[in-house]
Amino acid sequence: MKKTALITGATSGLGYEFVQLLAKDQYDLIVVARNEEQLVKIQAKFPKVNVTSIAKDLSKTNAVKELVAEISEKQLHVDVLINNAGFGLLGKFDELNVAKQLEMIQLNITALTELTHAFLPEMKKQNSGKIMNVASTAAFQPGPMMAVYYATKAYVLSFSEALVEELAGTGVTVTTLCPGATKTNFGAVANVEQTKMFSKAMDASTVAVIGYQGMQQGKRVVITGSSNKVVAVAAKFLPRSATAKIAKYVAGDK
Ligand SMILES: NC(=O)c1ccc[n+]([C@@H]2O[C@H](COP(=O)([O-])OP(=O)(O)OC[C@H]3O[C@@H](n4cnc5c(N)ncnc54)[C@H](OP(=O)(O)O)[C@@H]3O)[C@@H](O)[C@H]2O)c1
Repeated sequence: MKKTALITGATSGLGYEFVQLLAKDQYDLIVVARNEEQLVKIQAKFPKVNVTSIAKDLSKTNAVKELVAEISEKQLHVDVLINNAGFGLLGKFDELNVAKQLEMIQLNITALTELTHAFLPEMKKQNSGKIMNVASTAAFQPGPMMAVYYATKAYVLSFSEALVEELAGTGVTVTTLCPGATKTNFGAVANVEQTKMFSKAMDASTVAVIGYQGMQQGKRVVITGSSNKVVAVAAKFLPRSATAKIAKYVAGDK
């Protein structure tokens, strides 16, 4: 039977790469993002699979409830959930707009949590399902100059790894993808393109393939690229005061 994947943040960057990989593997798709025009273009681009596009701003309080209701009305079943939509912001916490930072928490944490809660029970009932939550190497240490963003990704990693244990033996897997700097719209949105952290950004297609394969294999945590793996290992051994200083350094100009 054909399987259906729901991808948030499907219109660009990693999300769009996942769309291409899933379509190639004949998954039907539910694509979600804010930009309706881009979503409609995706529908037209993949005529061989059923693509349902739902435009939603997932940073809005009732957005996930509305999305889940629409999916249920259309009698769609979600076999694969990719919680990918997210954004970051560069700057000192107190100097950045507070509403924008709360919007980030709503999108990066709350929507991801609510979507997982909405689709997990049915996956458990079916004894099968795959969830991929997109975190970041930011998850491994505090991130001065992107304090809220790093904290949201630490949440995603902690939450997802806890679920892995809760779901042992159920047939449902949860994979946390931890990319480092990757060439997508993220850099421009977060205003980090000119920082040292973005001097060696990976290609979105490479990152997405590594993540996608990891999800299909049911891996627990997938870190993309060898230098990002070093970051994750170093964070385990260095004091958090030191890793925070390194994160502050790489958030500075190239
Ligand atoms: N690129 C990196 O360096 C990097 C590194 C580590 C982790 N990540 C993570 O990777 C994930 C994907 O980001 P990306 O790099 O592919 O960035 P991107 O190119 O900016 O893509 C972000 C996607 O999320 C959607 N989106 C943004 N705000 C939304 C909202 N309020 N409601 C619904 N959809 C929304 C965007 O579409 P619309 O604008 O149409 O809504 C877009 O499809 C994020 O969680 C990010 O934190 C990225």
